[in-house]
Formats: sequence, C-alpha cells, structure tokens
Amino acid sequence: MLRGETGGMDVLVVNGPNLNLLGTRNPGVYGHTTLADLESSLRDRGRELGLDVTTYQHNHEGALVDRIQEARTQGCRYIIVNAGAYTHTSVAIADAFEAVQIPYVEVHISNVYAREEFRHRSLLSANASAVIVGAGVYGYRLALDLVAERLGGAGSADA
Ligand code: DQA
Repeated sequence: MLRGETGGMDVLVVNGPNLNLLGTRNPGVYGHTTLADLESSLRDRGRELGLDVTTYQHNHEGALVDRIQEARTQGCRYIIVNAGAYTHTSVAIADAFEAVQIPYVEVHISNVYAREEFRHRSLLSANASAVIVGAGVYGYRLALDLVAERLGGAGSADA
C-alpha cells in the first residue's frame, strides 16, 4: 500500500485549457467522456492501486504553474499532465516541472502526430518519464497504472 506514505497526495492529475469541455468539445477527436467522469474514474482506479489521486484543471497558464509548484509543498510523488495547447508553447510550464523535480507522465488524448504540425512539438516530452498519445481518455488510466508500477506499488511487477 502506498497511500499516506508521504502524508500528502500521491498523484496529481493536471489538465490544461479547454479540457474542461471534454465530452462536448470535438467528440470525434476527444470522445464523449466528460472531465468530471474521467476524474472520478481516475480517483477510483487510484483507490484500487492504493494511490491518493488529486485532480486539477485550469484554463490559465499561470494557474497551472502555481498548481505544479504547490504539488511539491504537498509531497506529491508523481504528476500526470495534459497541458492541452500549452504543451506546444509553454516554457513556463516546462520550467515549473524542472523546478519542482516531480516525475511526470505526459498524456494526450488524440494522436498529436497525426494532426497539424504545430502539435508535433512538445516542450514537456524531453523531461517526461513517459508520453502517452492517441489512446483516448484511456491514456490517463494507462498513465496511472504506469505510475503505480514506477512507484513500486499495486500493479507493479514486483508487487
Ligand atoms: C491535446 C492535444 C493538444 O494539441 C490540444 O491543444 C489539446 C488536447 C490532447 O489531449 O490530445 O487541447 O493535448
């Protein structure tokens, strides 16, 4: 069991701009699952894995930077991030990850490499511990299972 080992949250799931519109936004690309349903299924999966999962979404770059910084003070052990369009532009978010030194998995619902060229570049991928693209919202669950494996808990080959 990993829960409570640090006295803080184990995993923070951060979603960036427009992901609050999941379920209604371009469902052909992003699917029909709402953000609320996605977040609650991740918290449920976290419970099965023995991980405390906290979720956060914001449309503003600075708020995302603040939340990533705050994660360090809360003893967060891993971050799963879909920074939305800021993935392709935000030095500030990349710097926040470098500053807090919390390992992170980058997730994109769509296959960004099959889309416009400006989506092919990510400022976050070089320092990510893994990148999952094109698996739909299931990518977040894959990321969470991977985090459990990396943290050596339930779901781990050693467990
Ligand atoms: C996205 C891909 C980005 O290019 C886009 O700006 C998003 C969502 C994805 O999950 O596929 O907002 O990160």
